Amino acid sequence: MDRMLTILNQNNADVACAIYNENTLQGEQYYQILTRDQFTGLFLTPSKEGDRIFAAYGPQMTGFVIGHFDSVLKRYFLTMIGVRRPYRRQGIGTMLLNWLQQEVNKDAEREGLGMPSLEISYCDPAEITWVLPGTPGHIHPNAPGVLLGSPAHLFFKNRGFLDFAYQNSYHLDLKSYQWPQEKMKPYLEKMAARGYTIEFYDPAKHKDMQGLVDDLNNDLWNTQIPVEMNRPGGPRPTLIVNDHGRVGGFAGPIVVEDSGRGWLLGLLIHSRCRKAGCATVLFNRMCEEFRKAGAQYMTIFTTENNPARAIYESAGFSIHASWADMRRKAGSCG
Ligand SMILES: CC(C)(COP(=O)(O)OP(=O)(O)OC[C@H]1O[C@@H](n2cnc3c(N)ncnc32)[C@H](O)[C@@H]1OP(=O)(O)O)[C@@H](O)C(=O)NCCC(=O)NCCS
Repeated sequence: MDRMLTILNQNNADVACAIYNENTLQGEQYYQILTRDQFTGLFLTPSKEGDRIFAAYGPQMTGFVIGHFDSVLKRYFLTMIGVRRPYRRQGIGTMLLNWLQQEVNKDAEREGLGMPSLEISYCDPAEITWVLPGTPGHIHPNAPGVLLGSPAHLFFKNRGFLDFAYQNSYHLDLKSYQWPQEKMKPYLEKMAARGYTIEFYDPAKHKDMQGLVDDLNNDLWNTQIPVEMNRPGGPRPTLIVNDHGRVGGFAGPIVVEDSGRGWLLGLLIHSRCRKAGCATVLFNRMCEEFRKAGAQYMTIFTTENNPARAIYESAGFSIHASWADMRRKAGSCG
């Protein structure tokens, strides 16, 4: 077989889009089926100024690879790799991966970024929508890594990538959700003893949102929450823990997507307000507000060892898929 690679771009993306959709249609992936335009919009268009894209087809367009550089995080991501089934286990995936690594190495050298790692995680600027198995088409807008146990997971492991976190994707059908009055009582009492209440955020009344963001210091929230707070019309309805006038916790905003999904940025509790029942009450109140706002379901993902999972599970959420976040450090052999 001719081993030449072809650059993949917006003008020749049809085949890559077909390979991508094939994996879903054959039940190997949960990704949403995309049109060619959706495919180019998601994978081959930088999501913000300064981001860069690296994309190529394998020999005779039997596979493709797409990588992204995020200009804010200054990290390189392997966003998508796919090889048509009849051509697998013939080294095409490895060839594509090696090509991407070389492009990334060259790019990092040009930009003075040192030896770059390649990462596959929820931080990738291209957010891939997928359909949760076992639901009536309910979607989540970001695939947080590589499906655990999939051929792709084995492929990356055997090419020098290491799992650095495991993510579980949770789902709740809000039709069956009821505010758990009795269960919340002890938590509400603990909160009251420390003078905490749950309220909708009012910038005129509640101070120091930035203090909460700084305390958590999470890659995504560091940018997303200030953006939400500075929206032209003001932030959308968001629940907070009122810690004597300071923001001690955040849940929301309460936004219902066209799909019926309740959209939120996250659930955060300041370290000074922990162990007082805030997260449990805040989370359940948020589910209740989503239901009232007309959302049909919620999806969230969290790391396997995150203590918040107990809160989600006790509110009735169940795991529908598990993922590995993977990284290959510069210099590791493939
Ligand atoms: C991951 C993928 C691109 C690999 O493509 P490929 O052309 O088969 O890759 P290569 O032939 O270079 O390497 C295959 C290696 O992966 C591992 N591997 C892949 N599938 C495997 C399986 N079913 N069982 C065991 N090992 C497997 C092995 O290490 C194998 O090497 P070997 O053939 O020497 O044993 C391909 O499986 C694919 O398209 N998967 C679906 C798309 C996907 O999930 N992409 C990931 C999202 S980022």
